[in-house]
Amino acid sequence: MDKFIIEGGVPLTGEVNISGSKNAALPILCSSILADNTCTYTNIPVLRDISTITEVLATLGMVIECPDNGCIVIDPRKLGSYEAPYDLVKSMRASILVLGPLLAKYKKAKVSLPGGCAIGVRPIDMHLKALTKMGADINLSHGYVMAFTEGLKGTRIVFDTPTVGGTENIMMAASLAEGTTVIEGAAKEPEVVDLAHALMAMGAQIDGAGQSTITIDGTTSLSGLEYSIIPDRIEVGTFLIACGITRGDLVLKGARADHVVAVIEKLLEMGIAITHRDDGSLQVNGKQEFRPIHVDTVPYPGFPTDMQAQIMALACVTPGTSSITENIFENRFMHVPELVRLGGRLEEKGHTVIVQGVDQFQGASVMATDLRASASLVLAALNARGMTEIRRIYHLDRGYENLDEKLVSLGARVQRVRGGL
Ligand code: UD1
Repeated sequence: MDKFIIEGGVPLTGEVNISGSKNAALPILCSSILADNTCTYTNIPVLRDISTITEVLATLGMVIECPDNGCIVIDPRKLGSYEAPYDLVKSMRASILVLGPLLAKYKKAKVSLPGGCAIGVRPIDMHLKALTKMGADINLSHGYVMAFTEGLKGTRIVFDTPTVGGTENIMMAASLAEGTTVIEGAAKEPEVVDLAHALMAMGAQIDGAGQSTITIDGTTSLSGLEYSIIPDRIEVGTFLIACGITRGDLVLKGARADHVVAVIEKLLEMGIAITHRDDGSLQVNGKQEFRPIHVDTVPYPGFPTDMQAQIMALACVTPGTSSITENIFENRFMHVPELVRLGGRLEEKGHTVIVQGVDQFQGASVMATDLRASASLVLAALNARGMTEIRRIYHLDRGYENLDEKLVSLGARVQRVRGGL
């Protein structure tokens, strides 16, 4: 397993290009199941999670080509299997996003239950209830979701909590269902909106994506498309903090500032200078005095759970007392003991972590536990005095495109050591 060796203390400077969004690309690639002909996608990040989902689609029989980095062409016409096997789904729970499209287009699907993951239980009960209400017959058998239908029908779906994956699965299923589906309590994340735009480019009729009520008028067929994925808002947030935590000066090119409003507001409140440039990029400067903050993770447009670990690393080196509360996932504080190993002063109290600021992290050996937790350790290591060794960085490779190379291009001292434990 690869690891990073990072020598901290270098202010990051220069320009970095933001990659395409992983969490937008995953459902959009799954939506190609619904199409009658070739789908061409660009601005797809080169990541492990993307290869996992293309493997799932290839297992279903779809023909997939990657003519260039960042481009994926999918011909869905040879799809002949309806099963997403455990070995693939267990390594990436977003594979559950093939369920809605398979049911809508082929009226059957067998998808492994994702099982537990490092950040908590993460059930899919809301996906299954909604598909059942649309006319699917769903059984759980031997660890698999077995689903059949004589034809999905539009209906009114109410989500008690906004679910990103649930909203995406239902939006895809409803696009080929008979009649009108109304999703109330829908997730409003930019990735949901990007999926809606891709479906609409295929001919789907969707109104209200990005709001809490989405209306989908089902149609009988969807065509192929050419579509470019939105930039990754979590990568934007991570680089904003990388700049702050190293007291650097960066330009983030290709960012969508309107997707990171809550993150920018918190960082401005902390004292990081962020300005919008005419060409759409963001200019960031982290040389000012920092102030402590209080953060609550909430569904979009609030502060994202996927940025909780990273802002915690910044709070650790901010004078005063900060508090960070996680409201979306249980067990999403696995980075806390690792940040403590790096010299952070943190105390967990239920869903909240109280952070007492220290001057600087100190290098140590730490272990990456999940994707965003790993990012927080990299940020802490970039700030730290001395050397930090981060093991199990395969978690990072799931979700950040060329993170080490991008950081090195900004002056950071990051070395990837291949292989070993
Ligand atoms: C997606 C993102 C993930 C992000 C999360 C929240 C992808 C691939 N993943 O995950 O990075 O952290 O949104 O913004 O895009 N829930 C249920 N039952 C369900 C579904 C969800 O109880 O059937 C609960 C979850 O346990 C959680 C909350 O609803 O507490 C939100 O989960 P959800 O939005 O579904 O997250 P994901 O789609 O898995």
